[in-house]
Amino acid sequence: SYDWYRQMRETQPVFFDPNIQAWHLFRYDDVLRVLSDHATFSSDESSFLPPEYRNATPISSSMLRMDPPRHRKLRNLVSLAFTPRMVAHMESRIQEITNGLLDQVQAVGEMDVIRDLAYPLPITVIAEILGVPAERREEFKQWSDASVGGGEESTPEEIQAIMQAMENMKAYFNQVFEERRAHPQNDLVSALLQAEVGGEHLSNEELLGFCVLLLVAGNETTTNLIGNTILCLDEHPGSVERLRANRELVPGALEEALRYYSPIKVTIRGTTTETTIGDQRIEAGKLLFAWIASADRDEAQFPNASQFLLDREPNRHLGFGRGVHFCLGAPLARLEAKIALNTMLDRLPGSWQVPDVPLSPIKSSSVFGVKQLPLTWE
Ligand code: HEM
Repeated sequence: SYDWYRQMRETQPVFFDPNIQAWHLFRYDDVLRVLSDHATFSSDESSFLPPEYRNATPISSSMLRMDPPRHRKLRNLVSLAFTPRMVAHMESRIQEITNGLLDQVQAVGEMDVIRDLAYPLPITVIAEILGVPAERREEFKQWSDASVGGGEESTPEEIQAIMQAMENMKAYFNQVFEERRAHPQNDLVSALLQAEVGGEHLSNEELLGFCVLLLVAGNETTTNLIGNTILCLDEHPGSVERLRANRELVPGALEEALRYYSPIKVTIRGTTTETTIGDQRIEAGKLLFAWIASADRDEAQFPNASQFLLDREPNRHLGFGRGVHFCLGAPLARLEAKIALNTMLDRLPGSWQVPDVPLSPIKSSSVFGVKQLPLTWE
């Protein structure tokens, strides 16, 4: 698909697809403008979805699908509980979880990076943040998987199972809200229940939307950031050795992986008024696809954009978005990925090898990652 992005940037950077009556944007400047101007480019489903498709999932009632001023109020509320400071407190737990996961593979001499580390790490962290008890973790994983499922290829049975998992998750969280209201604990849900801006609390629906948003927005993306980073390192021999020799390069390498193989390929907006992008006039009420993954390979913004450069500087990638919806979980995702990569560098010695077999990409129009990622070391 990176070839398609390049072709579109060069030939039809602002492209209308009549089949789905939607616009696609491929250039950095255009994607940046759309993410930065929430007044013209709305995140509210009513601005781009026909009524029958609105409110399909709890995400629909989350802040991801709101515009200011309502968005600002909700984001301020949850930011009170989801602070960089709270994230920093998680550091020692994230390290412990990572150590435990690598303990299981170190002696074996091979692992599947996705199955053994990149998948279990973020879901365990978010389960702890939300206060999900150990005995419900397996169920929690199923709900989480189900909530990102439902791609175009799902069978009716699969869709049914996903709906059921969603219902179970709703029932579970509503019960937790009641318990925490009665007996607050030292966890995010209790903090959310107490959070108050101008005398207002979150409604149950808003709380649920946020918890599910954390699951959906935070798990698969972080899994793919870790996996895609290993892919980048594998495709660029010598990178692992450079990182091992100079750990200060690790944060920058993760930013470059976010740019090079962005876990989120695309996000959507709707036009609130008539506007012009490039030389195209776009009517009000139109759906836009802002291709982050294409913007992040735009030569006009990134010299040698198709090269992975460990120490690229500056690197104003759009992997976490931009503007009012800039990823709330970015500090957590960066910390988890940094700990995962550093601990792998510490504990998996010598050169790393990804076997030379085709890796199956995740089938999704919006997510970039691989399903399995075997790795061996010396
Ligand atoms: C928003 C990417 C990890 C929570 C976003 C957006 C992007 C993004 C692109 C903006 C979407 C838009 O403007 O339409 C990523 C990537 C991640 C990651 C690439 C991992 C590498 C996380 C984590 C969490 C999280 C770990 C929380 C646990 C959120 C939330 C929003 C968001 C709550 C909505 C913010 C708002 O609407 O104001 N993320 N994310 N994300 N992300 Fe992340």
